[in-house]
Amino acid sequence: MCGIIGYVGESDALPILTDGLKNLEYRGYDSAGIALRDGEGDSLDVYKRAGEIDALREHLPESSGSTTGVGHTRWSTHGEPTDANAHPHADESGEVAVVHNGIIENYDELKSELEERGHQFLSETDTEVVPHLVEEELDDGYDLPDAVERVADRLEGSFALGVVSTDFDGLVAIRQDSPLVVGIGDEANFIASDVTAFIEHTRNVCYPEDGDVVTVTADEVSFRHDGEVVERPVDEVEWEAEAAEKGGYDHYMLKEIHEQPQALRQTISGRLDEMAGDVDLDIDLPEEYVASVEEIQIVACGTSYHAGLYAKRLLEEFADVRVNVEVASEYEFTGGRDPWRTLVFAVTQSGETADTLSAMRAASRAGARTLAVTNTVGSTAAREADHALYIRAGPEIGVAATKTFSSQVATLSMLSVYFGRQRGSLSVDRAQTLLEHIRGLPGAIQQLLDQENAIREIAGEYADGDAFFFVGRYLGTPVALEGALKLKEIAYVHAEGFAAGELKHGPLALVTPETPVLAVLTEGARPDETLNNVKEVESRGAPVVGFSSYERGEKYLDTVVGVPELGLLEPLVANAGMQLFAYYVADGMGRAIDKPRNLAKSVTVE
Ligand code: F6R
Repeated sequence: MCGIIGYVGESDALPILTDGLKNLEYRGYDSAGIALRDGEGDSLDVYKRAGEIDALREHLPESSGSTTGVGHTRWSTHGEPTDANAHPHADESGEVAVVHNGIIENYDELKSELEERGHQFLSETDTEVVPHLVEEELDDGYDLPDAVERVADRLEGSFALGVVSTDFDGLVAIRQDSPLVVGIGDEANFIASDVTAFIEHTRNVCYPEDGDVVTVTADEVSFRHDGEVVERPVDEVEWEAEAAEKGGYDHYMLKEIHEQPQALRQTISGRLDEMAGDVDLDIDLPEEYVASVEEIQIVACGTSYHAGLYAKRLLEEFADVRVNVEVASEYEFTGGRDPWRTLVFAVTQSGETADTLSAMRAASRAGARTLAVTNTVGSTAAREADHALYIRAGPEIGVAATKTFSSQVATLSMLSVYFGRQRGSLSVDRAQTLLEHIRGLPGAIQQLLDQENAIREIAGEYADGDAFFFVGRYLGTPVALEGALKLKEIAYVHAEGFAAGELKHGPLALVTPETPVLAVLTEGARPDETLNNVKEVESRGAPVVGFSSYERGEKYLDTVVGVPELGLLEPLVANAGMQLFAYYVADGMGRAIDKPRNLAKSVTVE
């Protein structure tokens, strides 16, 4: 949700910033811009345009003499995607330029104040108050780091800011509840919303704390907090730059769908102990605490919420614990529950989703222990939660989550073994069976993906449906919800997921011969009962595509995608087929699959 980048070094800043922005485009793509400080510090050149980075590129010079600059790719919150609202925003003297990710909640009041003092605004954004405020501080004699710190003290809301000015040979960044990472290279230093922006240049990163003033020059990055110089540890990013490239696929989404077997191997690597019927997850939850947990609450959004729904069923089955899953934006830690015996899982691929973070913080304030289940090392969720467990899926660039859903469910399945074994509610035998299925996931998903051509044809056959209904039961229900979400977000068609048993309580009225129904008919998805619901829709003329390991029912299906046997993880395998179905429906319609309209990958506003 908006991507920012900043560079200070020895090379031409222009191509480094534009390439970096291209890598950040999944965060927002309705306008883009760059501000470059000329070598002597005489001026700042600002280029910005509505539209994607490629639209901006047309207005950029071939090269620049600048070695310092900031860039931005936008997902609009305040003001439409126009040239004027695109970042960077500057003060009227043109001496300060700012890129921002987040929302400044008190901007209205600050803007009125600034207008009274004679400042003129050119955009409708909340961000534009910042360069004017910085300008005033500079005029009062503060240097850029002090000026940015003083301004940040006045801002309410969430922000990651990158600021350049003519009279400072470098840039200054600061964050508050918005992602910011610093890249430390060889005479080339960076700030960005995400490491993908600069991974081609350096894999050494630091994660600033909220309120750190980060001063970046060509040969140094320094951190200051509340006036004191502080050190921040330098980590090395484990994945290679190629992991964030398309690798010959037409879309990141397709590449990431195909990466699932490999991602799952990473997820489970070194964590399964089949002999002992146990897992090694390296989370330091005290034994007595695990035994005493009365309730697990899972907070998450979108696809991660669906992974949470899958986990609820597994945890309840194996770990003998009550589990509630809540959409993070609806979560409130109300009284009546015992916070000391409540463990809250924040499931979030990015680790930066504002709704999930705020639910997690609410739980923490109430005294509950929190565990972040995330893909992103150094993310806010990982740092703020009491414990973090990484799903290790590698970078996911396509806006629609695919491989991370599989890795989330695999990780949460391992967690259910962990809780089941620690709490004495899961026998070694049952644990071994589940572990065997987790181990079998990469191979089973590969077998499903091997049916890609057939699924592409099925997608072509049904693509012009009026609407699409996805049904399943038990572990099939979250997969039905997820299948429908994928189709909605990338194909822009009406798709709904239902617990199959609910059809007859209302949605059946929508079913016609023009509404294909996609059903999960596997172990773990109560295939006998689901088949009854399949017959109900068929008798109303709807074509049914079954993702099935349930041979007895296949004669009732119009089309079958075979799901290999994998016990309670079969619905997760079926999900990979639904991902391909959504992909090929959307591709046939010529949709912008990696950058669906109105969406952004990391939703850092509430
Ligand atoms: C859908 C999708 C979103 C995210 C949701 C939560 O394909 O990607 O629904 O799942 O925005 O994001 P994270 O997991 O980063 O918290």
